[in-house]
Amino acid sequence: CGIVGYIGYREAYPVVIKGLKRLEYRGYDSAGIALYDGEELRLSKTQGKVSDLENRALKEIPLGGTLGIGHTRWATHGEPNDVNSHPHYSNSGELVIIHNGIIENYESLKAELKKRGYTFTSDTDTEVLVNLIEDVKKSGGLKLGKAVQVALNQVHGAYAIAVFDKTKPNEVVVAKLGSPLAIGIGEDEFFVASDASPFIEYTNNAIYLEDEEMAILRRGKEIKVRKIKDDSLVAPYVQELQLNLEQIEKGGYEHFMLKEIYEQPQAIKDTYRGRLRADDGIIKMAGMEDHMEKFVHADRILIAACGTSWHAGLVAEYIFEDLTRTPVEVEYASEFRYRNPVITEKDVLIVISQSGETADTLAAIKLAREKGAFVFGVCNVVGSSIARESHAGAYTHAGPEIGVASTKAFTTQITVLTLMALKLAAAKGTISRTELQRYLTEMEAVPDKVEQCLQINEHVKYIASLYQEAPNCLYLGRGYNFPVALEGALKLKEISYIHAEGYPAAEMKHGPIALIDEQMPVVVIATRYGHYEKVVSNIQEIKSRKGKIIAVVMEGDTTVSEIADHVIEVPEITETLSPLITTIPLQLLSYHIAVMRGCNVDQPRNLAKSVTVE
Ligand code: G6P
Repeated sequence: CGIVGYIGYREAYPVVIKGLKRLEYRGYDSAGIALYDGEELRLSKTQGKVSDLENRALKEIPLGGTLGIGHTRWATHGEPNDVNSHPHYSNSGELVIIHNGIIENYESLKAELKKRGYTFTSDTDTEVLVNLIEDVKKSGGLKLGKAVQVALNQVHGAYAIAVFDKTKPNEVVVAKLGSPLAIGIGEDEFFVASDASPFIEYTNNAIYLEDEEMAILRRGKEIKVRKIKDDSLVAPYVQELQLNLEQIEKGGYEHFMLKEIYEQPQAIKDTYRGRLRADDGIIKMAGMEDHMEKFVHADRILIAACGTSWHAGLVAEYIFEDLTRTPVEVEYASEFRYRNPVITEKDVLIVISQSGETADTLAAIKLAREKGAFVFGVCNVVGSSIARESHAGAYTHAGPEIGVASTKAFTTQITVLTLMALKLAAAKGTISRTELQRYLTEMEAVPDKVEQCLQINEHVKYIASLYQEAPNCLYLGRGYNFPVALEGALKLKEISYIHAEGYPAAEMKHGPIALIDEQMPVVVIATRYGHYEKVVSNIQEIKSRKGKIIAVVMEGDTTVSEIADHVIEVPEITETLSPLITTIPLQLLSYHIAVMRGCNVDQPRNLAKSVTVE
């Protein structure tokens, strides 16, 4: 979920609505807003997107007020309907709250509150929290800030909240544990949001609350930050924001996803810029340099991540084992954290996360740290929770990724992971200096090759037009390109709702081959390296069962081109780096199919970009 708040001298409505739209990547099942002018409270909420709220709010309520809070929801407790949308009132109607996170002990708290006469209109844990605050406040005769503090000390779970009291129109109380919360500091005004994007045009100064911190924002007064546990005052660290407005707008593209696909040559360059010096065979990565011993002497490298980031982890497994000879295990963070894994002080855990906020990945870090492992974070969002919780790390520097389906985050993650593997291999002596130099030179050529892949967009679009109605699709690859097949399938199902599966090409005969008939498109990554002849045989197996082959091949390929129904040519590249190239046409294919099917490419149904619940 995403939350936004404003208190100051401006009209809050446009600030909050625009802010919510920027946070829709965090969920868009329902949205709501509360505006307060000191006399009358106006609240409107609806199932659907922020634009639905806009249509409704504009009709339902007058929009005045210089205090406002809003919420865009990814449903956890309670289905996404109007009643379960935020903001929520307390029973007296005095307190109004927005909340991102989960209150785990809400059922016992709810039962207790019911005994004390409280009633509930929604199924949400949030309505329990706001009434708990009210109960603490009324029964103890406390001010809002104190009541929030006492109440939160009874709560287990995760939260980023903003709450205000109708009888105190000059004050908003915010608090954080587990879910992110940024406060924008303007002159005589404060902004609150799940990340800084809603307020970058108003201020460059932001405070990111730490876990178990709360702040009281009073109109025209200095901000006060306190620890929730012991009430001690904290001197807040005001950061200067690096974001700019252009980065988070579409810039002429029809969708964010397409913009982000096209940004990849630059994003990959930005990722290795300042790190890679091909001439003298040097890779500079401060986060690794300070801990080189840990990497060199690691018994194992564990990798934990979710979704597309997990696919980047799988690619990294091939690269690390091949180049560094250190054993690697890749796991879904959600499985890793709950299966009592063997972790020792001689393990290095690499976590990969675009947002840096994924709850399961964050929990994996905690577990590994407890067992004494060294944790290295690969994140895109600077200052995110995962970046902060890791011992060290490297940013991908892809710039904001807004389309829910991840594109440039994936290729830049692979870029960082490749640099890491090369650096470790050089330190361990598992590759020669000449080999290192060759890889680095190849890496510098990647942005141009990605650019070439983008130039075949029209051809990919044509293929998309032929298969837009397909109910299923298979993606096959071997070796380094097996994870690319998984990622290609994930992209297609995420945004076009076509059922798709990725498989190692050779495994096809152990199951999926049963699905093949003349209706089944099969996308095969058939680069010249990585057991090419074997892939050719796999293609023959599909052809003889009348499947339709869309093959991604390297320039000049003739063998596969003769058998396949459609061929997508990508530039020649060394096998290790090939996922950076072969991924591109698959992104374009799913993009075009989704557009042709009339799907909401940037905000596919049921998904959220940043999943801060487990
Ligand atoms: C969500 C997103 C995916 C993403 C995954 C992991 O499911 O929709 O695109 O790959 O979370 O997110 P992270 O921010 O940790 O990379």
